[in-house]
Amino acid sequence: MSSLATPATSTPSKGLKGTVKAPGDKSISHRAIIFGAMAEGVTEVTDLLRGADILSTVGAMRSFGAKITEDDKGTWRIEGVGAKGFSSPAEDVDCGNAGTGVRLIMGAAAGYKLSARFTGDASLSVRPMNRILDPLREMGVSAEARTTEAGEPGRLPISLQSSGALKPINYRPPHASAQVKSALLLAGLGSKGITTIIEPVATRDHTENMLRAFGVPVEVKTNSEGNHISVTGPARLKATKIKVPGDPSSAAFPIIAALITPGSDILVENVMMNPTRTGLFDTLNEMGAFLRADNFRKSGGETIADIHVKHSRLNGVTVPESRAASMIDEYPILAVAAAFATGKTLMKGIGELRVKESDRIAATTALLSENGVTVSETQDGMTVTGGAGKPPAGGGTIKTYHDHRIAMSALVLGLASKNPVRIDDAAMIATSFPTFFDLMASLGAHIER
Ligand code: S3P
Repeated sequence: MSSLATPATSTPSKGLKGTVKAPGDKSISHRAIIFGAMAEGVTEVTDLLRGADILSTVGAMRSFGAKITEDDKGTWRIEGVGAKGFSSPAEDVDCGNAGTGVRLIMGAAAGYKLSARFTGDASLSVRPMNRILDPLREMGVSAEARTTEAGEPGRLPISLQSSGALKPINYRPPHASAQVKSALLLAGLGSKGITTIIEPVATRDHTENMLRAFGVPVEVKTNSEGNHISVTGPARLKATKIKVPGDPSSAAFPIIAALITPGSDILVENVMMNPTRTGLFDTLNEMGAFLRADNFRKSGGETIADIHVKHSRLNGVTVPESRAASMIDEYPILAVAAAFATGKTLMKGIGELRVKESDRIAATTALLSENGVTVSETQDGMTVTGGAGKPPAGGGTIKTYHDHRIAMSALVLGLASKNPVRIDDAAMIATSFPTFFDLMASLGAHIER
C-alpha cells in the first residue's frame, strides 16, 4: 500500500433507490482520443470518461503531437496529426494503469517513423506486453522490453523504434484479446497492404466500428475458423464527432449492488448494449435476476438502453467459456452476485483474468473467502458456492493490488453482507469510474473513505 492509499469501507445498506447515468465507456474513450490524434482535422468527443486511464492516454497523444483541449461544457477537441504523422515524444510516455492505453498506443505509434519509450505504474509494469510486441516485431518494429527478476520477459518500460514502413500481417492471436486485435489493426494502417486478424471468438468490436466512423474501411469475413478482420494500409483517418456511450462494465457495479441489497429498485441509464459486451446481463438473466432493458436508442454508433434492476433471488449457473470475452472484466463482480445465489456458480475458461490489472482469479477468491464466502479456484476458473439468500459474514479487509474492479467489487459486497467490508485503497477506482462514490451515495449506499 503506497503512502497515498485511501482506504474505504462499505457498510450494510437499506434498499438502493434512484436513477443514475452510467459513466462514459472506457474502451470507447481510449479509442476516441487515439483515433482523433491520428486523424486529419479536428475530432470532437462528448461524454468522454474523465478517468485517470483516459487522462493518461490524452497525455500520451499530446506527447506524439496531437493538440487536445476540453471546453467548459466537457467537449473534447482533438487536433489530429494527419498526414504529418506522430512525432517522437521528447520524454517517456507514461500510460499509468491503462493496459488498453499502452497496447493500443504502441500499435498506433508503430505505424509511424519514430522512437518512443513507454512506462506505466506498478500494476501495468508487470503485465505481459509480448502479446503485442511479438507480432509488431514480425511487422518490422524493433522493441526492447524489460525482463522481471522472476524471468518474465516483455514488461514495461519498453523502447520502441519503427521505420514507419511496416509489413502487413496475417495473425491469429493466441488469446482472445480486443487489445491485441486493435493494436495490430492500427499498426496495419501504417503498412503497405492488407493486415488480417483472425479471431476464433469475437472480442469487443469498438475498433472496427470506430475506424469506419473515421472513414477507414474495415472488412469482416466469417468462416469456420472465426472472424477475419482486415484493414488495408496505408490508410488515413478523417476527423469525426464521437458521443461516448455509457460503460456496461461500470454499470455492473450499481446493478449488482441493487440485485443483492434487499429492497433495492434502481434505474441505470445510458448503458451500451453492444453484444460483444453484454455477457454479464445474459448471465444475470439466467440466474433469475430482475433486469429489464428498455428505451433502446442509438448513441455514438452504438445501441444504448436504460436498465431497471430490483433486488432478486439468484440461482447459481455455469457460465460458458464461449461467453468469457463478452464479460471479461465482469467476473469479479459476478462472483460477488454468486455469493448471494442458491447453489454453485461455475466460471470457466477465464485464464486471461490472471493478467489483468491484478491476478483477478486470486484477488477475487481472496476477497470472497476473507468475507466468509465458500470459493475455489483453478488455473483458469472459479467456483462460488452461494449462501442461498443468507448474507455472507463480511468483516474482511481486502487487498486491492492497484485493481479498480477488485476495489469496487469488495465495496459492493459490503453493502449486503452482515458486517462492513474494508479495502486497503480506493484511489485507483478513479481510473475507470471517478464518480463511483457519488453515484453509489446517490442511490443510498453507505461507503466511506
Ligand atoms: C479492452 C479489452 C479487454 C478488457 C479491457 C479493455 C479494450 O482486454 O479487459 O478492460 O478496450 O480493448 P483484452 O483485450 O486484453 O482482453
